[in-house]
Amino acid sequence: MDEAAKQVGTPAYLYSRASIEQAYRRMDSAFGALPHTICYAVKANSNLGILRVFAALGSGFDIVSGGELYRLRRIGVPGNRIVFSGAGKSREEIREALRARILLFNVESPAELDLLASEASRLRVRAPSSIRVNPDVQAGGHPHISTGHHRHKFGIDWDGARRLYLEHRDSRWIEWQGISAHIGSQILTLAPYRRALVRLAEFVRDLGREGITLRYLDCGGGLGIRYTTEQPPEAAAYASELMRAVRPLGCHLLIEPGRSLIGPAGVILMRVLYTKHNRGKTFVVVDAAMNDFMRPALYGATHSITRMRRRAGALTRADIVGPVCESGDCFVQDWPLGEVTSGDVLVLWGAGAYGFVEASNYNSRPRPVEVLVTGRRFRVIRRRESRADLVRGE
Ligand code: LLP
Repeated sequence: MDEAAKQVGTPAYLYSRASIEQAYRRMDSAFGALPHTICYAVKANSNLGILRVFAALGSGFDIVSGGELYRLRRIGVPGNRIVFSGAGKSREEIREALRARILLFNVESPAELDLLASEASRLRVRAPSSIRVNPDVQAGGHPHISTGHHRHKFGIDWDGARRLYLEHRDSRWIEWQGISAHIGSQILTLAPYRRALVRLAEFVRDLGREGITLRYLDCGGGLGIRYTTEQPPEAAAYASELMRAVRPLGCHLLIEPGRSLIGPAGVILMRVLYTKHNRGKTFVVVDAAMNDFMRPALYGATHSITRMRRRAGALTRADIVGPVCESGDCFVQDWPLGEVTSGDVLVLWGAGAYGFVEASNYNSRPRPVEVLVTGRRFRVIRRRESRADLVRGE
């Protein structure tokens, strides 16, 4: 990491290929012989270099926009490896996905289903569809990232979903293939999955009695990871919870994990610019900021930050802050970082998911470089933005 910081500069995102591969294989093997497909949630980290790693592992993909579909097409991912989620698919996006012959549309409203049917009929193809139900369970680490409760905008309630399945049972253009539910993100216990799955299984059986046989059960993503002291369930425990519900149904299981596959694989390297003391508080000002990494400011997330090299001295506590002109531009408060001095490199951990993808140019700061580390080698998979990039298109 030292070498990378010297060569590519800071701030920089670094991803470990070995870590991604290990997480993917661990998850994949946890499901054993149960027919299943991991559909990596592209939104978590959509760099083409990262998507290529998943594609090489044989992963499927979950997309939420035409932009994400474009990325996958650019690296040659076939449509039948792609599921499309999201509450606001546009006509254009639906059309593109139909043309790409994707595996499954996770439909989130009656109006979207109508649009999907009309676009399918224009293209004379059947749309492989599932309804994303809102199972009305509480889950997720933060109000902004829980999705499966009836207050949330996502999915369709049970009664509404049942009506739609039945209404379109013999539709020419809608082909019922599955059912889906994504209940939230950074979920740290299995109980919410259990609650959702019991109801999903009941629902699938009920539809079966009505003559609608669903091939896929898509259980979304959401499995949490350890950022500091969290104790997330192991992949194996998560898998056996899901398998218990899905095996008796005979469905092919789809899951859409993002964070649990890519989160732990990424770090941000940053350099100390200054240290200062104000009324008994110590601040360490670094060259990364909230525009580079939003999670602390946006979700109140705590990510561990350590020094690349130890220095002698007490383990002093400091607020680690960036150069952006907002008080919210603080990575962590009162953090036991220890002695540092200008030029020292710090490592922010667990930044592989929802890191670079949420970066912006706020304060006219170019977005950081992204680097993929393979063994002892590293390769730039997105160059650092330039000043010219900042004004491109203006
Ligand atoms: N499937 C759907 C339909 C989703 O909406 C999401 C995430 C996933 C799968 C992947 O969930 P995961 O396995 O990564 O939890 N930016 C926030 C997280 C937002 C999650 C949005 N949906 C954060 O940094 O915590």
